[in-house]
Amino acid sequence: MIRPTAGTANGDGNGDTPTLATLRRIAREQLAEAGSESPAADADALLAHALGRDRSFFLAHPEYAPTPQELAAFRQSLARRRAGEPVAHLLGWRGFWTLELRVTADTLIPRPETELLVEAALARLDCRHPARVLDLGTGSGAIALALADECPAWRLTAVEASQAALAVARDNAQRLALTDRVQLVHGAWYAPVAGQRFDLIVSNPPYVGEQEPELTEGDVRFEPRSALTAGTDGLDDLRVIINEAPGHLTARGWLLVEHGYRQGAAVRALFTGAGFASVATLQDLAGHDRVTLGRQPR
Ligand SMILES: C[S@@+](CC[C@H](N)C(=O)[O-])C[C@H]1O[C@@H](n2cnc3c(N)ncnc32)[C@H](O)[C@@H]1O
Repeated sequence: MIRPTAGTANGDGNGDTPTLATLRRIAREQLAEAGSESPAADADALLAHALGRDRSFFLAHPEYAPTPQELAAFRQSLARRRAGEPVAHLLGWRGFWTLELRVTADTLIPRPETELLVEAALARLDCRHPARVLDLGTGSGAIALALADECPAWRLTAVEASQAALAVARDNAQRLALTDRVQLVHGAWYAPVAGQRFDLIVSNPPYVGEQEPELTEGDVRFEPRSALTAGTDGLDDLRVIINEAPGHLTARGWLLVEHGYRQGAAVRALFTGAGFASVATLQDLAGHDRVTLGRQPR
């Protein structure tokens, strides 16, 4: 936590309120020490939030001395970040695709890797033509809302098992004025859409093995376990989603799923076993297997 002691957070040690430049420097140092992988970006995001200003203000006014209220808000969020809380939880939102989404401790924090799933979906169906699209495990609504925003002609159904996450998705859909394109429904995987077929099914389901060490590191420690884990090998939910997809796809319809970087071969085998054609895995920006897709035969 930044403490107003002489020569540190008090800037020049003369008892004045610390300037923005001083606060940024000290916050970066403290966050780096606390193990943040992006101390500069974290410090600026928290400072921008506390001040209600954007980063260009810091650059233009390094000498600005925050008010006591701004300083208190910043100190509080900095202390929580140093204790490991995700920046997205402290800000209450996360950017995804072209949208700003509200996120809470009840939702997964949308990841940049998941934008590959959005991109791959947009590459497979023509945005200009009406289509029925299903998003399984919508969380904050990230994938469904991004697709609905890009393609006004599409009609999305988004399923979520957590009522608390669904409330956040509803809030996002309302704020983004997308409620007429996205129907948000509560339930387990295909149960709420029994008897319905879709041109495209997308899902970023839980896919981490229950004993994986990554569950004890970074932001995931603060995210709902039910959004992350799926049995010992992480594939329990993917098995259900892939095996039951043919009964919910139109002829030539597509299924696209996100998965862990070591699960590409296993997920392709599940697609093939379920009778899918054109099965392929796409790599994320880090070059890791991330999204596998397949097409329902005629
Ligand atoms: C990895 S998160 C993905 C959230 C969001 N789609 C995203 O990409 O940010 C998986 C989501 O699936 C939901 N989920 C878990 N089991 C489910 C089930 N049986 N039926 C529907 N949703 C489920 C979780 O609550 C969580 O919101």
